[in-house]
Amino acid sequence: MTVETPSIEDTYRDLRSKLADVVPEPELALKAELAYRINRLKRERGAVILGHNYMEPALFHSVCDYTGDSLELSRVAATTEADPIVFCGVRFMAETAKILNPDRTVLLPAQRAGCSLAASITAADVRELRRRYPGTPVVTYVNTYADVKAESDVCCTSSNAAQVVESLDAEQVIFLPDEYLARNVAASSSKQIVFPSSQPVPQERRAADASNGLQYEIVGWHGRCEVHEQFTVQDIRDVRAQFPDVVVLAHPECSPEVVAASDFSGSTGAMSRYVTETDAPRYLLLTECSMGDNIAAEAHDKEMVRLCSVRCPHMNEITLEEVLASLRENRYQIEVEPRVRARARRAIERMLEIT
Ligand code: 13P
Ligand code: SF4
Repeated sequence: MTVETPSIEDTYRDLRSKLADVVPEPELALKAELAYRINRLKRERGAVILGHNYMEPALFHSVCDYTGDSLELSRVAATTEADPIVFCGVRFMAETAKILNPDRTVLLPAQRAGCSLAASITAADVRELRRRYPGTPVVTYVNTYADVKAESDVCCTSSNAAQVVESLDAEQVIFLPDEYLARNVAASSSKQIVFPSSQPVPQERRAADASNGLQYEIVGWHGRCEVHEQFTVQDIRDVRAQFPDVVVLAHPECSPEVVAASDFSGSTGAMSRYVTETDAPRYLLLTECSMGDNIAAEAHDKEMVRLCSVRCPHMNEITLEEVLASLRENRYQIEVEPRVRARARRAIERMLEIT
């Protein structure tokens, strides 16, 4: 069955019905035209477009074949047969798609599109941690580059971090590189965090902790998300003072104090489902600003409190213009060196098997 590319007029009407409150009219018309050209070229080339939940609203609602959080998109990348795969997200996400599909072309529409967490750790750092904590399994957040994943035993995302850690039969786990995610995982599973700069906890104390219900420790790293680290407990207090009935959702890359002061914490996909499936008077999302707009575009009855000066500069490098250029010029192709790829793939596949 051939699916027709929606016309510019239909694309515009659809975008307008969803985004009239957030995107000015002339910009919508321009974006509808770009989206039409992308969708036509995408069909001609047999491409698939994957879009992370943080994509800007017009792009998110017009050209993506699949949208979701990083785990959901990894699963799509593991099963899609399309070629090329255009990844509207950041580099580590596109690398994951390439690791799972070495023979396909994976395109990242903006050359840089980095991530402060991925930049916070190197493969040499992981090797040094392994030397300091011999025999300790290494769990690496997917927000890392391929060479770091290659040094790891298993990956995780924000939606399965606790599950992955729990699945390991070990007294001590190295969890990299997000300090806050590590602390949040520990808080929900009574585990301790040890940072490599401090001394490992002595054996006697570990035994005492174990008898108090602490099963093992997590060795953390000092990476942080430059977006989520900006949210504070005071932000939540201020919004609650104005809207006492607000439901607050925090991404687990926020500090443990912020997560504790919130009503719900989960991956971008879990936050989105929570809002869709509940019926609160209003919601505050402590995460990248586009998320709230993307949810509200599908559910006009949901009131989102906007606290949004906080945007991810890396995710925001992906624009409709760049996606069109990416499909036209086959840019920017993601490459992962075969030796690194094979080892990184093992860590990603272990995660996909666990969850
Ligand atoms: P999710 O896995 O929740 O989509 O998070 C990815 C990310 O980069 C959040 O900042
Ligand atoms: Fe990285 Fe934070 Fe941007 Fe997510 S929001 S891509 S963790 S910098």
